[in-house]
Amino acid sequence: MAAMEKQPAWLQEVATPAYVIDEKQLIHNLEILKGVQDRTGCSILLAQKAFSMYACYPLIAKYLKGAAASGLFEARLAYEEFPGENHVFNPAFQDKEFSELLQYCDHFVFNSVTQWKKFRERALAAHKECGLRINPEHSTQDHAIYDPCSPLSRLGARISEIQPEELEGLTGFHFHTLCEQGAEPLAETLEAVEEKFGKYLPQLKWINFGGGHHITKEGYNIPLLEKCINRMQEKYGLKVYLEPGEAVALNAGFLITEVLELIEGPEREMPVAILDASAACHMPDVIEMPYRPPLFNSGEEGEKIYSYMLAGATCLAGDNIGIYSFDKPLQCGQRLVFGDMAIYTMVKNNTFNGMALPDIYYVDSQDKLKCIKKFAYENFKCRL
Ligand SMILES: Cc1ncc(COP(=O)(O)O)c(C=O)c1O
Repeated sequence: MAAMEKQPAWLQEVATPAYVIDEKQLIHNLEILKGVQDRTGCSILLAQKAFSMYACYPLIAKYLKGAAASGLFEARLAYEEFPGENHVFNPAFQDKEFSELLQYCDHFVFNSVTQWKKFRERALAAHKECGLRINPEHSTQDHAIYDPCSPLSRLGARISEIQPEELEGLTGFHFHTLCEQGAEPLAETLEAVEEKFGKYLPQLKWINFGGGHHITKEGYNIPLLEKCINRMQEKYGLKVYLEPGEAVALNAGFLITEVLELIEGPEREMPVAILDASAACHMPDVIEMPYRPPLFNSGEEGEKIYSYMLAGATCLAGDNIGIYSFDKPLQCGQRLVFGDMAIYTMVKNNTFNGMALPDIYYVDSQDKLKCIKKFAYENFKCRL
């Protein structure tokens, strides 16, 4: 990955491992998203599942119209911390949680007609906007674990499962089928939505295009996205929502880690560097997706002179972050900086093996570092 232009002054100030959130990049992303809102009139919500660092919510709320929750706790967090609309979707809402959710959220998205019928009276009596998640059954990716249109998917009502009279009282449709994708797969998906569900669209008020739009990634086709939004607004009179997570905080965080131990030997395939950060605990998507996180001042395997397998300090044999190469041999105590560590990291991390959670820091636009949260033994013990 690209070299860090110069080492930031705060790099040695943080206790490792640490997530450091970068205000400049966050604002860069938010300005792009706000541009889409301003030019089209759509509303963009933060999908909290990707990034719930609520210390940033006041900043995000200056740009975006609201937040989207996946369940009770995210819904409550947005209610407490995010000034704006509060939408919630869950594959199966629970009776025991629904009254509390009604206090927090203004938009409810139901995953099936059965769910809608089960909660309809309570939601309508509380004057909520109610929507149905639909499944357009049109895959635009090969990665089944992230594809809600894959066979056996539980996500969204299929067209064969809807009787027109059952939609009474619903004012919106929601679909979420993309993952880190461009506007072209969105355009394709919208065609499938129109083909299957088009007859219902004129009776609705809004449509939510879900997340998975890589809007803030370089090269994303923003004019095509805006064309898609405008089309749904003009043709059906629908208000359009988008709920990206990743695009909001893309590249807006670092994970700072230190080399603890080097394992080298003439019989080894390659030297291994054990870090005080773990793929399994602190960047689980590296294993789940899987993907190779960017690391500053490094190259691909063999690209620079010294190649290492970088690994976590847990018992899991597969707690490997990836093979990276460097201009100079690594040293114990040396700090490494992984990029793109704001999203799907702190919301997913864990304390497996009694590993500490990384502290959370914030670097503002003047490069001033602030510690937001420190974690200790109590945060491990209190969950067990
Ligand atoms: C319903 C829904 N909305 C929004 C998102 C956010 O997706 P992303 O972070 O890829 O933009 C997801 C991700 O899984 C989702 O399931």
